[in-house]
Amino acid sequence: MTSKISAQNVNLFYGQKQALFDINLDFEKGGVTALIGPSGCGKSSFLRCINRMNDTILNCRVEGKIKIDNEDIYRSGLDLVLLRATVGMVFQKPNPFLKSIYENVAYGPRIHGLFSSKKELDEIVECSLIKAGLWNEVKDRLNDQATGLSGGQQQRLCIARTIAVKPEVILMDEPCSALDPIATAKIEELIDELKDNFTIIIVTHSMQQAARVSNKTAFFNMGRVVEYDTTGKIFTNPNNQQTQDYITGRFG
Ligand SMILES: Nc1ncnc2c1ncn2[C@@H]1O[C@H](COP(=O)(O)OP(=O)(O)OP(=O)(O)O)[C@@H](O)[C@H]1O
Ligand SMILES: [Mg+2]
Repeated sequence: MTSKISAQNVNLFYGQKQALFDINLDFEKGGVTALIGPSGCGKSSFLRCINRMNDTILNCRVEGKIKIDNEDIYRSGLDLVLLRATVGMVFQKPNPFLKSIYENVAYGPRIHGLFSSKKELDEIVECSLIKAGLWNEVKDRLNDQATGLSGGQQQRLCIARTIAVKPEVILMDEPCSALDPIATAKIEELIDELKDNFTIIIVTHSMQQAARVSNKTAFFNMGRVVEYDTTGKIFTNPNNQQTQDYITGRFG
């Protein structure tokens, strides 16, 4: 079986400081993988390797290979704009553009020229908002500023914005950490609906969330992958003592 994403011997450095050590992880197509582990263990750094967001960080150097559909995304000449459309990212804090709700979702399709008429663009916007579970709440106020939405709505808008450019992979870095339990539950439902059509990798500090939403879980510690297995196995019967200590809250 070929993996959707394959990380091979990935090492990552910020200047002299090494933050990731020899990461080897394969992600199957579809489904949800959770990345868990203590603060500073390298979860976000690893996530950023998968759409080359680390390129934007001065002094950051990545070694090793990351392949998506068996193609090395670090090869020279790779189209970064296209890569970041294929591998979308949702951040901890909702970060809508200072534009209308409609324009937030239309932005990506405009940049990538994904439509040939206004009607087609309208359809992409509507379809993305429906998939993000936000359409009913915003359909009568599409021209309002996105910043007028609640935090949870803004986060679903950011997911709609990501979906609008038809990504294959969605990276989520603690997407619910700024949200209340009800908004969190909505995002989790959404992840569940999206997982058939997208390969999702989510960083979370909530064990409950990892257990609820993911099929597989990778436990990171101090820049290394300690254990990677099905979520059921990691949370009920992990092989490694460090994993056991972390999931039972006895860590550190
Ligand atoms: N831009 C940066 N410049 C220098 N060092 C960095 C940078 N970003 C992260 N680091 C360092 O790399 C290591 C891993 O950080 P990273 O943010 O990937 O961890 P994390 O697991 O996402 O933590 P958290 O759970 O707190 O978000 C840490 O030691 C951190 O200080
Ligand atoms: Mg992080």
